[in-house]
Amino acid sequence: MAGEFSIVPMASIHVEEVSRLDGLCYGEDEKWPIDSYLTELERGYAHYLVVLKDEQIIGAGGVWVFFDQAEISTIFIGPSWQGRGLGSLLFAHLVKEAIEWGADEATLEVRNSNSAAIKVYEKFGFKQIGWRRKYYADGEDARLMQSTHWQSEKFESFVTKFLDDWHLKER
Ligand SMILES: CC(C)(COP(=O)(O)OP(=O)(O)OC[C@H]1O[C@@H](n2cnc3c(N)ncnc32)[C@H](O)[C@@H]1OP(=O)(O)O)[C@@H](O)C(=O)NCCC(=O)NCCS
Repeated sequence: MAGEFSIVPMASIHVEEVSRLDGLCYGEDEKWPIDSYLTELERGYAHYLVVLKDEQIIGAGGVWVFFDQAEISTIFIGPSWQGRGLGSLLFAHLVKEAIEWGADEATLEVRNSNSAAIKVYEKFGFKQIGWRRKYYADGEDARLMQSTHWQSEKFESFVTKFLDDWHLKER
């Protein structure tokens, strides 16, 4: 049931488990170590959230906001929790957070083959605006994606409705 999940700001007590989960989602070679998360939590422009299920961390994500520009720094849901809408829920909360901090548009890079992530981003108006060739260590290209007009009433209502509707659905 949707009500069993909660999304809260990331705190230093979370980072050990967040880093472990990051390794499960992105692979040990690509994960951010504990220190990186602790550094991120100190940055005034960085905003991190965790998804909890019965006090257990099952996902995390972050967004940087520089004036009206947002950049998604990371997002992941534990492998056994993927495909239930939690990635979209977490992403909606990151977008909401970024809007509250003044973001009007956002960019991100995503692996060309990462269909699940691309689908989540497209829900929030992201469109491909270019490529970052051989962006990843294994040589895969990244799609550069952008979403705009986040400060508009239309976009804010869309995000609010998305969150309201999410909580009404059975998971
Ligand atoms: C990307 C990620 C956060 C998505 O989380 P999630 O909880 O699985 O996402 P959701 O369940 O909200 O939605 C995923 C969407 O992609 C779809 N999807 C899932 N796997 C898919 C696949 N292999 N191919 C195409 N679509 C897929 C789902 O059907 C869903 O679409 P829908 O809502 O229209 O049905 C998660 O897969 C993840 O942590 N991946 C590893 C880390 C990562 O790649 N992060 C993004 C880096 S840019």
